[in-house]
Amino acid sequence: MTRTTASRQDRVRRTLEHLGTGTTDETDAVLPFGPEQYRDPDIAAQERERVFGRVPSIIAHASELPRPHDFITRRMPRNHVIVARQPDGGVKAFVNLCRHRGAVLEERTEGQCRLFSCPYHRWSYDLDGSLRAITKDTTFGEVDRSQLGLVELPVEERHGLVWIVDRAGADIDVADWLGPEVDEMLAGYGLEDLVAYRSEGFDEPANWKLMQDAFVDNYHIQYAHPNTAAKHVHTNVQVVEDFGRHARMCSPRKSIDRFREVDPVDAPDDIVRHVTDGHFLLPNSTLLRQPDDHFELLTFRPHPTDPGWCRMEMRLLVPTVEKSGLDPEKWQRVWDKNWEILLAVLHQEDFPLLRASQSGLGSADAAGMLLGRNETVNQIFHRELRTLLA
Ligand code: FES
Ligand SMILES: [Fe+2]
Repeated sequence: MTRTTASRQDRVRRTLEHLGTGTTDETDAVLPFGPEQYRDPDIAAQERERVFGRVPSIIAHASELPRPHDFITRRMPRNHVIVARQPDGGVKAFVNLCRHRGAVLEERTEGQCRLFSCPYHRWSYDLDGSLRAITKDTTFGEVDRSQLGLVELPVEERHGLVWIVDRAGADIDVADWLGPEVDEMLAGYGLEDLVAYRSEGFDEPANWKLMQDAFVDNYHIQYAHPNTAAKHVHTNVQVVEDFGRHARMCSPRKSIDRFREVDPVDAPDDIVRHVTDGHFLLPNSTLLRQPDDHFELLTFRPHPTDPGWCRMEMRLLVPTVEKSGLDPEKWQRVWDKNWEILLAVLHQEDFPLLRASQSGLGSADAAGMLLGRNETVNQIFHRELRTLLA
């Protein structure tokens, strides 16, 4: 395992070495953990406060709210949130709650609006969160309207992604959070030029960490996905770069096999087309860069109260129809098919397994478990989470 940024060619060369020797990058030791991680309400409360209430996590791709006046709403672990594109092109985020008597201000998950108008008594708020109008306002007398704007949350757009810290008044500095290697890496991917072709959320009866763990895990592929993913991706072969908080993991696809006898220095440049570069972005995202440079972004958010539930969001980030060079119908067909394949694996293979796992972890006598030395990125995730919670 390395702590510096390796070139894609170098990562491919190392995956070929692993394939030759039947090895994978490993940590120094196994990492024990207990079932309470997935069911203890006190641990869940600490995660909401010390993780999601303190560090940036991804709430959207910028293309989900491209124009001024576009908004989305999401349930973060601590707050109901509105993110709104401002007339100047920036984004702002607010607690999605009316300051009169606490109605949820915007119930749609996305849309366009000039102002937010509360469904209960029709107080209205400008896009920047300031209170615009109180209906029957004489009955409220001389209230200070400047104190009754929507509660603002720290939000930042960077690398085409919208990041949020789920706590009013907290600081946000995404570049600092990513660190120089990962910040530069994401900048190089041009994610801001892609569009979220599909974005969908799933409420699942499984702890968010159980879900996150499954989507950095290259060890389960041939066992849990023998007829789908395992036909395309090797199992238990990963080259991992550990950047302290975040990690990149390079996994060879089966199509690389024809180069296994070739000396890596003689391999053609496009051999990089035979690996998937995964990225674990602490605290709760996996970003997969596929060989054709489209991306899949998976995020996992704790339920606001119940450790046994989470919200997963999946996004397919693809080149625009103009940049793709495809005719619009073909473009749509290609990505629809891609999305259907992703959904099928999720719904038929990962979700049933993880729901059962969460249920099993509720066993009164569930004992300690462990992450193997080969479960490198899982170990990084658990290690960093412990640091944040310490
Ligand atoms: S609760 Fe929103 S206007 Fe009354
Ligand atoms: Fe899986």
